[in-house]
Amino acid sequence: MDYKKGKYKVADLRLAPEGKRLIAWAESRMPVLMTLREKYRKTKPLKGYRIAGCLHVTKETAVLVKIFVEAGAHVSWSGCNPLSTQDAVAAALAADGISIFAWHGMSVKEFYWCIEETLKIHPNLTLDDGADLIFTIHNKHPEFAKKYVIGGTEETTTGVKRLRAMAKDGALKYPVIAVNDAETKWDFDNVYGTGQSTIDGILRSTSVLLAGKNFVVAGYGHCGKGVAIRAQGLGANVIVTEVKPTAALKATLDGMRVMTMNEAAKIGDIFVTATGIKDIIVDRHFKVMKDGAIVCNTGHYDCEINLKHLKKLTKSVREIRSDNEEYTLKDGRRIYVLAKGRLVNLAAAEGHPSEVMDMSFANQFMSQLWLVNLHKKGKKLENKVYDIPKEQDQEIARLKLQTMGYKIDTLTPEQRKYAEDYSAGT
Ligand code: ADE
Repeated sequence: MDYKKGKYKVADLRLAPEGKRLIAWAESRMPVLMTLREKYRKTKPLKGYRIAGCLHVTKETAVLVKIFVEAGAHVSWSGCNPLSTQDAVAAALAADGISIFAWHGMSVKEFYWCIEETLKIHPNLTLDDGADLIFTIHNKHPEFAKKYVIGGTEETTTGVKRLRAMAKDGALKYPVIAVNDAETKWDFDNVYGTGQSTIDGILRSTSVLLAGKNFVVAGYGHCGKGVAIRAQGLGANVIVTEVKPTAALKATLDGMRVMTMNEAAKIGDIFVTATGIKDIIVDRHFKVMKDGAIVCNTGHYDCEINLKHLKKLTKSVREIRSDNEEYTLKDGRRIYVLAKGRLVNLAAAEGHPSEVMDMSFANQFMSQLWLVNLHKKGKKLENKVYDIPKEQDQEIARLKLQTMGYKIDTLTPEQRKYAEDYSAGT
């Protein structure tokens, strides 16, 4: 193995063989990406382009990174969360000569050090999950935007929301594709991916029975809905808290109970935050929770559960098992916090299954390729946030269905004409 080509800092290179087996397993579940790999490994359309990425270092991400490399790109990568890196996977990428700076359990200072290391390649393209890489360029290296970067892509709801706010204020220095907002991303990854992986994280760190529990989900967007329907399927009594009337209404028609967090806090057994907003669970909620309540978060940042508030009410903390800490409060009640309030699905489990990441990362690959193709044609996008091209969404869904062995109907020319015929009535 040639360790010299790429620079890296990972936990333990000896884990590389295990990482390679995990990546091979993910590849066997990601047929759309495998199709794209076959299509572009020979023509190498990304040759001469440098991509810096900041996205969870998982076996699925490794599949994407390796395809970028096979398509000709020079890649440098860091994780986008201090607790989500799968160390064996990071080691496998380093062993393959890919520049990677990621290990599980890093500090916040180390997190930003890793991002800075990836920027040393002077990227032409950025790929983010949570926008920390883009923010670092804007705040610390604004000259990169003019000198090197042609565009970026963003994977997650939280990141896209902030980038849209930046664009609105005229503060965004290069165009960004909102991969998150593709239909083949958020209708699948955010719903079924978050749903399954969040339950997976809760079960791995607690092994509790979900049937019969009062299971509180804060936020009924795509992610919250995914968690709620899976918990409901396992027999939990699901309670939803929301601020948006339409989302709350959908939750009631999906069979969930809706109430305020002040009310839910008194009766919940398990709490999951999925809002992207800070201070969803704070001291007034901890004060009324039942002894034994479990709290965790599946939103991008660790600001949804206010652990500072919890610590103020606490007399002692001990680790019960991996990713599960028991806070004993001054009044004797115990509250269990999973994964330190960070993304429970990636910190305590392995993130979304490969099958859904297949579509999300096909969107990432196609969006990066789109930016490169525009650049090659000398076309410049404005410094805005762009939705992915609609045809890309349909193409990825078509490919996914094909690889799953499903066929669908097509409209006849007459049917298509009928669909658009505004003179036709009853
Ligand atoms: N986000 C959620 N699940 C993920 C996974 N398996 N890999 C990368 N990013 C993710």
